[in-house]
Amino acid sequence: MKALILAGGKGTRLRPLTYTGAKQLVPVANKPILWYGIEEMVAAGITDIGIIISPETGTEVQAKTGNGDRFGAKITYILQDKPAGLAHAVKVAYPFLRNSPFVMYLGDNLIQQGDLSYFLQKFTTQQQDAIILLRQVSNPSAFGVAKIDETGRVLQLIEKPKVPPSNLALVGVYFFSHVIHDAIACIQPSARGELEITDAIQYLIDQQKQVLACQLEGWWLDTGKKDDLLEANRLILDTYLNTKILGEIDAESNIIGRVQIGANSQLVNTTIRGPVVIGSNCYLENCFIGPYTSIADNTQLIESDIEHSVVLEGAKITGIHQRIIDSVIGQRAQLTTAPQRPKALRFMIGDDCQIELT
Ligand code: TTP
Repeated sequence: MKALILAGGKGTRLRPLTYTGAKQLVPVANKPILWYGIEEMVAAGITDIGIIISPETGTEVQAKTGNGDRFGAKITYILQDKPAGLAHAVKVAYPFLRNSPFVMYLGDNLIQQGDLSYFLQKFTTQQQDAIILLRQVSNPSAFGVAKIDETGRVLQLIEKPKVPPSNLALVGVYFFSHVIHDAIACIQPSARGELEITDAIQYLIDQQKQVLACQLEGWWLDTGKKDDLLEANRLILDTYLNTKILGEIDAESNIIGRVQIGANSQLVNTTIRGPVVIGSNCYLENCFIGPYTSIADNTQLIESDIEHSVVLEGAKITGIHQRIIDSVIGQRAQLTTAPQRPKALRFMIGDDCQIELT
C-alpha cells in the first residue's frame, strides 16, 4: 500500500499567503498542515509516501518536510508541472505508484486522527476498486458532491455542482486500486480544463467497478480558505494541545488553561488564556493572548490583545489597542501604531489582502 499526498495546486483561495509560500505549509497549531496528513499515513502503517509538488512551491515543501526520516517514512517527491487537476496528479505519479493500491490525500485537508486506519482496513479486507468518503456539508456547491441511492450506492459524482443533488461532499481522502489509472486514461479535461478525479471515479462506476462510499463521522476540514484554517487551528488546539512551558515567564504574567510556550520565548506582564501555542524565540510584553491562538517562532507582540488567530513566523504586532480576532497574520508582517501626527491609518498592503476596520 502506498500513499499519494497532493501538495501542488494554485492556492488562489488562500492568497496572499500563497504568493510567497505553499498553502500546505501554513501552520495549524504551529505545525504545517501537510505534516498532519503524513503522520496519519504513518499511523495507519503506510510509510511509502509520494508527495505531489508544484514548480512554484515544491522546493520549499521538500526543504521543510525532508526525506521522511522525521516521520519514520520514505518520501518521494513528484513534480506536477501545472495544476491540471487531481486526476492529472495521479497520472503524473504513475511511475511512483505503478500497480500498487494507494490512498490519495489532499495535502490541505485534515481529518480526525484514527479515521484513516479504519477506512484503510475496510479497503484492504473488502477488495474494493475504490472507496470514497462522504461528509454532510451545508454548502455542497463548493465541493465534489455524490448522488447516492437508498442503499448508499454511488450513482453519480459531480464536481462543484450549481444545483447539488445532495449535501454529501467528497472528503479529500480516496482509496484506489490500480484500475483508477485505466479510468484516468479514458477521461477528458472538464470545462475548467482539469482532469477531474470525480470523472475518473464516475468512469469506474459506469464500468460496474466496486466503488464504495462511506460516511465520515469524525471531523474533516479543507483548510484552503482563511476561516477554515482558523477552524482547523481551533479544533487541533482544542483536541490535542497539552501544557508544556519551556520559555521564561515573569511574575506579573498569568497563564490559564492549556498553553505551550517554546524555548527562549519570554513573557513580560502578559496573560494567556489557553488553548494557546507560542513558538520559540518569541517576545510578548503587556499582551492578552486569548483562546485558540497559535503564534509561530520569532514573533514579537507588545501592548496587544489577540484571540482565535494564527500568527506566522517573524510577525511583529505592537500597540494595537483594539482586540484582534479571527485573523491570520502572515510571515514577517508588521502591525503597529505610529507615534507621529497626523493621527491616521497608514498601510502598505500586498495584493489580495483583507483588512476589516471598525
Ligand atoms: P484545491 O484546493 O482544490 O486546488 P488549489 O490548490 O488549486 O486551490 P484554489 O482552489 O484555492 O486555487 O486542491 C486540493 C489539494 O490538491 C491541494 O493540496 C492542492 C492539490 N492539488 C495538486 O497537487 N495538483 C492539482 O492539479 C490540483 C488541482 C490540486
